[in-house]
Amino acid sequence: MKKILFISSEVHPLIKTGGLADVAGSLPIALAELGQEVRILMPKYQALKLEQEVEYRCTLRVNNRDVNILETRLPGSGVIVWLVDCPEYFDTPGNPYTDEFGNAWENSAARFSLFCRIAVEVSQNRAHLDWKADIAHCNDWQSGLVPALLTLEPHRPSTVFTIHNMAYQGLFPEATYIELNLPGQLWNPGALEFHDLLSFIKGGIACADHITTVSPTYALEIQTADYGYGLEGLLHHRHHELNGIINGIDVEVWNPETDPRIAQNYGIDSLAKKAGNKAALQQHFSLPEEPATPLIGLIGRLVDQKGIDLVIDCLDELINYPVQFVLLGSGEKGFEHRLKNLSYLYPDKISVSIGYNEDLAHMIEAGSDMFLMPSRFEPCGLNQLYSQRYGTLPIVRKTGGLTDTVVDAMPDTIKDKTASGFVFEEPTAGAMLETIKRAILLYTNKRSWQQIQKNAMRKDFSWQQSAQQYLNLYNSL
Ligand code: ADP
Ligand code: GLC
Repeated sequence: MKKILFISSEVHPLIKTGGLADVAGSLPIALAELGQEVRILMPKYQALKLEQEVEYRCTLRVNNRDVNILETRLPGSGVIVWLVDCPEYFDTPGNPYTDEFGNAWENSAARFSLFCRIAVEVSQNRAHLDWKADIAHCNDWQSGLVPALLTLEPHRPSTVFTIHNMAYQGLFPEATYIELNLPGQLWNPGALEFHDLLSFIKGGIACADHITTVSPTYALEIQTADYGYGLEGLLHHRHHELNGIINGIDVEVWNPETDPRIAQNYGIDSLAKKAGNKAALQQHFSLPEEPATPLIGLIGRLVDQKGIDLVIDCLDELINYPVQFVLLGSGEKGFEHRLKNLSYLYPDKISVSIGYNEDLAHMIEAGSDMFLMPSRFEPCGLNQLYSQRYGTLPIVRKTGGLTDTVVDAMPDTIKDKTASGFVFEEPTAGAMLETIKRAILLYTNKRSWQQIQKNAMRKDFSWQQSAQQYLNLYNSL
C-alpha cells in the first residue's frame, strides 16, 4: 500500500476549467479502490463547490505566510482532500488561473509557488498531519516546483510529474524567482531555469523521478520540436523515464443508461431512445426538429489548441450539406464572436452557446449524432471518450490521445467491428470537411452506423487499467 499525495490545481466536482479536473476527481478514487492511501491536495479557492463538511486541520508557516490546511472529502467518495487555505491568494473571485473578468492572475507565480511549498511540507510530514507521502504525484506546471524542491530533501517521497498539456508552462521573469525567495541551488538549466526564465513545468520535467503524459502518442509527440515548446530535447533525454498512460473517465458520471441530466436514458440495446435526446437538444438550441438530419456537437475551450479556426473556416461550406451543428464553449473572444455571427447567419443549421455548462455538456453528448474534435494537438482529450460511450461518433484529427482512442471507420475496421469514429490527418478545414462528408454519407446507412455506435459504446474507458498502470509505476520507483 502506498501513501500518495495527488497534487492538482483543479479537481472535479469542486472546481473545473478542463480535463485536468476530471482526471484529478476520478483517478484518486480508482487508486483508492486499488487499496492505496490517497490524499488530494489543492488550493481552497473562493469558487470551490464544497458539499461535504470542511474541518480545520493545522496551520503552517511557509515563506513568511501562515497557511491553514483544511480537510474535506471528494463528493461521492471517501477520498480525503486537503485544502490549502491562504485567503490572500485564493479567496478571490475567479477561477484557478484568471480573475472574474478572464484576465490571468498577475500573481500566479506567487500563488502556485506557495501551493508547491505546502505540498512539500505535507509530503515530508512537516504539516502536523501525521502522514508522510511515499509518492508525490504532481500535475501540470502549477505543481512543477514540487519535484524540484524535493530534490533538496534527503529523505523524500518518489515524485511523478504528469503532463496534461505542454502548452501551459508557468514561465516568469528571473526577478520573480528572486521575489519568491526560491532556493538558489535550483536556478540552473538542470532545474528551474529555462533561457533566463523561471519555468515551473521544467521543475517537473527535469527533476521528477518519472514523467508521464496522458497518452502514448503525446509522449512521443512532445519529444519533437512541433509539440515540445523548446523542452523536446530534455524530454527526449529523459525518454527512459517518460511514458504515456491514457486517461480513464468516470463511468458513473458519464453513463447514458443512468445519466440524470439527459432527456431519455438509453444503452447499447436501446439505441432508438437516443432520438429523444436529439429532439430535446434541437429544441434547446432552437433548431428544426429533424430526426434524420445528422447533428454534430462540439464542446470545448475555444482556444487555438482545439482547432476552432478550422471549424469556423469550414462552416460556410458545411451548411450546404444536410447537417445541423451545435457548439458549447468559451474562451478567446474572437472565436466567440465569429461563431455567434455564423449562428445568426444560419439559424436553422448552426446554434452556439457561449459559456460553461455541465448539464448542457451531457445533453450534447447524448443528443448529437457526431462529435467534432479537430484539435491541433490533444494530450489525451476526454470528450471523444464520453462521445463513444454515448454512441455519438467522434470526428477527430489524428493527434495525441485522439489517435490512441478513436478507430477510423474504414472498410476493414467496419468489417472487423473495431471502427468507432472518423479520423483525419491534416490540420486543415479541407481535410476536416472531407471527413465530415464521409461521416454524413455513412450516417445514411443505418445498419452500418448502428454497428459503429455499438463498437464505440462497448469500449472500456474506465480507470481500471490506467490506474493499475500508475500503481505499477509507483511500485517501480
Ligand atoms: P481540455 O482539458 O484540454 O480542455 P479535455 O477534453 O481533456 O480538454 O477536457 C475538457 C473537459 O471540460 C470535458 O469534461 C468537457 O466536457 C469539459 N468542458 C469544456 N468546455 C466546457 C463547457 N463550455 N461547458 C461544460 N463543460 C466543458
Ligand atoms: C489537458 C489536455 C487534454 C487532457 C486533459 C486531462 O487539459 O488538453 O487533452 O485530456 O488535460 O489529462
